[in-house]
This record gives sequence, structure tokens and C-alpha cells, in this order.
Amino acid sequence: MTATTSDFASAAYQACLLPKHEETYSVSEARPHGMANDLLDIQYDWDRIPVPSSLTEFEKRWSTRNNPLDYSGVWRFRELFPFAPEDQIVTIGEGQTVLQKNDGVAKYAGVNAGGLFLQYEGMNPSGSFKDNGMTAASTHARMIGAKVTACASTGNTSASLAIYGGVTGLFKVVVFVGSGKIAYGKLSQALDYGAATLQIQGDFDDALKQVRRVCAESGIYLCNSVNPFRLEGQKSIMYRVLEGLNWEVPDWIVVPGGNLGNSSAFGKAFIELKQLGLIDRMPRLAVINAAGASTLTKLYNEHGLRWNNGDPCETTIGDYFTKMDNEDGRAVTLASAIEINRPVNLTKCLRALDACDGVVRDVSDEQILDAKAQVGRFGFGCEPASGASVAGAKMLREEGIIAPSDRVVCILTGHQLKDPNATVAYHSGDKDALAKSGPVEPHFGNAPIPVDNDFDAIMQVIDSLSS
Ligand code: F0G
Repeated sequence: MTATTSDFASAAYQACLLPKHEETYSVSEARPHGMANDLLDIQYDWDRIPVPSSLTEFEKRWSTRNNPLDYSGVWRFRELFPFAPEDQIVTIGEGQTVLQKNDGVAKYAGVNAGGLFLQYEGMNPSGSFKDNGMTAASTHARMIGAKVTACASTGNTSASLAIYGGVTGLFKVVVFVGSGKIAYGKLSQALDYGAATLQIQGDFDDALKQVRRVCAESGIYLCNSVNPFRLEGQKSIMYRVLEGLNWEVPDWIVVPGGNLGNSSAFGKAFIELKQLGLIDRMPRLAVINAAGASTLTKLYNEHGLRWNNGDPCETTIGDYFTKMDNEDGRAVTLASAIEINRPVNLTKCLRALDACDGVVRDVSDEQILDAKAQVGRFGFGCEPASGASVAGAKMLREEGIIAPSDRVVCILTGHQLKDPNATVAYHSGDKDALAKSGPVEPHFGNAPIPVDNDFDAIMQVIDSLSS
């Protein structure tokens, strides 16, 4: 890997995802309308790029970690998304994440010991997977000289954009959040990192609509996952999963679905790796919605919406959203990170599902929180939305779609401490707080034990624990 990405950044371009639209754009421009076009994709002339002949080549960068680009868990794979000259790359050391084999969670999900892995993205600087994408979006913002950036968020995107703005000082950050709709851990981050934080009277879908319009009309640089550069960075989560498995492709990748950026990026990563001859088979992809925010599940499983060779049925999608608008259908789930009814990456996700023989499911808040508690008990802990991946794996195992002997990777998208309220409500058995979208029975609650400020009383409790 002697050539640098600077040598071949010109081999990248922006193109429409759907083959029927043929126009392409340079990567050195932000698309008009604040890049609000959900269908833009970053494409590469791979023939012009010196991609390594084997994924093992990337291991060499472990020995050159004094180079910030080789230290980054995202950019050390930069030949696989070479859109930026190296001197423009913005990194804050993201992507130092862990793939953990977890037999406790495997048992819970019904997978054989040794077969279930948790890809823990909570170790990123802002505590969620978003940093994988935001390092790429920040890089592009820098490439085009953006001075103000913005996003709408259920909390993690805003925390991530805010940290990149705060640490690098390259641009100002404005975040749009639904008032009362984001967990305090995340809100506190945006405030602490110095982002201007606009609390919109509405939910995420409202906030996203507003920020897209604001960016389109003002030229502010949009950093939601509708920005295709973000997804390029998020592909690296899959490269690290493969690396953690000694470059073997697992049978399943299971991921929570909100705005569907991750699932879209993962599918794109595998499509490209296969095309480049760097993997010999595709994993299957399972995208898991919360039951109260299940647009993808409904469209995919009930309305039969498919990628259809790049021509998904626009009428099916249009009718679905018109009905949702007419009924003022709102997403409702305790997993606030994925409380989204209008996923902007729907079409890209269909491509990923098609390429990876995908399945889609939705899981209740109770299933999410029980799974989250098992991850907490046996693993690193995670925020509610991340629990959806383990709950989904368990469901697919019970249905016989995942086999006990399969190798399953569940993506834990966000840190446990992002949403302590949900965790404490669950363990304390605060059913009123938990019953946002239906009753929740906390099956693995571990309630705090009230005890008098008295030695004997304390000893009595401790003795009762060991008996
Ligand atoms: N998990 C967590 C912890 C998230 O924060 C999000 C999205 C998702 C899963 C869903 O990922 O959108 O790629 O399907 N959070 C966004 C935000 C929407 O604003 O932080 P997706």
C-alpha cells in the first residue's frame, strides 16, 4: 500500500443509486439542496485504485499506529472508501472498538457457545457508532470548505457531530432535536461539546424535515446519514467485524434499524468487498426495528417492497407515507434512538437487503429491554436501541431462520450510559416509565435494595444475598 489516497481520490464520484438516473457529480462539491437527495451514493472507479489484494494487508497498519490515519479504526481502511486526499482527513481516533465473543448472550439468544459476537461501538469517542460516519462527513465538510454543519438527531448523531466540531474547531455545529425526545446522556453531550442545540416542538421526523430544508436553503452542510459520505465511514464497522473474525465472513449481521444508514452502509461494504474479490461470500443481514417504529418491517414484510434490480415500487412507498401522514402516525418506542417512522435510507437499505439475502423484523420494547439487560449482565452493556439486535437474533433463532450453529454478529450501536433513565427504570421495575408503547415486564430486573443507615440492617441484607 504505497500509493496514498491523495493519489486516487479523483477516482471517486457521487452518483444516483438507481440505475435509471445517470448523472454523476464530483466529490468536491456538496450537492445542491444540502445534499438532501436520499439516493446519492459514492461510487469508485476501482480499476484506478490500488486496493490491496487481501484484507490481511490492512493488519500491517497495526504497526504504524503513530500515524493518526493508521490509528483510526475507520481510516486505516481508507483504500476501501478513497474519496478524500489524506491531508484533508479529519480524525479524532474513532473506531477503537471491540468484537466480543459472548457465550452468556449466545445462550440467551439460543445460539451455540462460541457463535455469538457483540460488535461494541460504544467505545467510540462520543459513545456510539456515529463517529464512524461523522469522521467521513467531517472530512468532506472540510474538503468543500463548509463553515457551518447541522443535523437532526435522536441524540447520537448530534453528540457525534458536536464532538467533531468541538475537538477540531473546523466548523460550527447546529443540532436539531425533538423536544423531550432524546435521552439525557446524549443531550448533555451536545451541550457540553458546544453545539447550538435547537429543541424543536416535534419528533425526529419533524426535526429532520426542518434541517433538510434549512440546509437546502442556507447552504449549511448537512450531516445526517442522507449524506452519502457518512455511510462510507460506517462501512468500516464491517471491516473491523471481519478483522475480529480473522477475515472470515460471519453467517449473520444483525443490526437495529432506525434511519437505516448502518444497514445501508453494511450492505454496500459487502457488495464492494465481493466485487473486489476480497471476500468469497456474503453474510446475511437482519435489520431489526422497534415495533413502535416499524416502517421498514411493514413495507418489507407486509407490502412486499423490494430493491427490484434498482427499481423499487415508488407507489408502494408513496402510498404508505401518505397514509401515515393522513393518520399522523408517530413513532413510539422507549428505544428513542430508533424512534423514527420515515427512514431516509430506505432505498439504500433495500439494496443491502437484496445483496445480503436480508430479513427484517420488529421487536417490542419488552424484548428490547430484556435483551439489553442480558447484554448488560454478560457484556459491555448498551443503550436500548442496541438491544434490538440481540432481541432480533433471538427472535430469528426461535423462528429457525438463524440456526444454532450459525455465527452471528450483533451490532451494539451505543454505550450503556447514553440512556441511564431507561436502565434504572427497567431494573427498578418502574412499569409506568417503561410502558411507553405497551406494558413491559422486566424479566431480568436487578432492583436497588433500600436499607437503613445501620450496620446490622446492612449485614442482614448482605447475609440474605449469600443465602
Ligand atoms: N442505534 C443507535 C444507538 C442510534 O443512535 C441509531 C440512530 C440507530 C441505532 C439506528 O441507526 O439510523 O443507521 O438505522 N440514531 C440516529 C441519531 C437517528 O440521530 O442519533 P440507523
